Amino acid sequence: MTAFKWNTAEYNNYRDKYSILSASLDLYLFQIVLDSLPVVEDILELGTYTGGALIFLNEVLKKKNINAQFTAVDHIAWANNFSAFAWKNHASRVLPPQSFNSFLSIKTADDAAHWLKNRCKEVSGQDIDVRWLLNENELDDKKYNVIFHDYGQTAEENTATLDKCWPRLRDDGIYVIDDFETAQPYRVIATIEAMQQGKLFPVLWGSKKVFFANNIDFAKTLIDKIKINSNFEEYVVGTYVNFKSIHGTYNPLKVKLTTIQ
Ligand SMILES: C[S@@+](CC[C@H](N)C(=O)[O-])C[C@H]1O[C@@H](n2cnc3c(N)ncnc32)[C@H](O)[C@@H]1O
Repeated sequence: MTAFKWNTAEYNNYRDKYSILSASLDLYLFQIVLDSLPVVEDILELGTYTGGALIFLNEVLKKKNINAQFTAVDHIAWANNFSAFAWKNHASRVLPPQSFNSFLSIKTADDAAHWLKNRCKEVSGQDIDVRWLLNENELDDKKYNVIFHDYGQTAEENTATLDKCWPRLRDDGIYVIDDFETAQPYRVIATIEAMQQGKLFPVLWGSKKVFFANNIDFAKTLIDKIKINSNFEEYVVGTYVNFKSIHGTYNPLKVKLTTIQ
């Protein structure tokens, strides 16, 4: 059993250095889940923006000598009309002037991939193997060990994304839903529908991220692995009430320290 090592400062630092739109506790949990997966070679992110989450995951994996391939999907909403871009205040605030200027000059998926590679090298000192798609409909049949779902407003949009991307998750992979909270009620609804249909099985409920398997057997295996891999259960994570799925009942993990950001 490894020692408990939740270090708020370390993960706040990742969040701030890479401008990740995430609770730092969820970054820690993401790392714990990655450490417990059998294979992490292919990662798909739906909603990449300035790429902070990918830079973080890349760094965590490089430290374990894993060179993962990343697929970023983002329609680069800022490219044609930055003043109408939902995250314009955030981007102008968090990116240093030079990165911000080049961010504004992104016009194509290749520009975006190029920008992200440079930004990754600059802030983390690491190379990143990333391809960028503008739309999830451009995805081929490749399957992923990790899918990180971080866009979608309406229930229909989120369901369409789940329908498109969920089949691309490996049976021993993890589907991460971000913003499982009142700010994204329709993403929550779409996710609950997928749970009811027996597509998503919660493994770990984080602060705002929820980590799912696509089958009950792997959900249980991963829960046991996470418990063995860390003793954080005692301090950070408790057991959720029985989760009743159409394929059986089990106890996912649930974070306790939801106030730590
Ligand atoms: C919340 S941001 C992603 C933040 C990022 N994952 C992080 O952790 O720092 C959402 C991004 O999704 C993109 N987006 C929204 N809807 C989309 C869609 N239907 N297809 C592709 N990209 C989309 C936006 O351009 C925006 O950059």
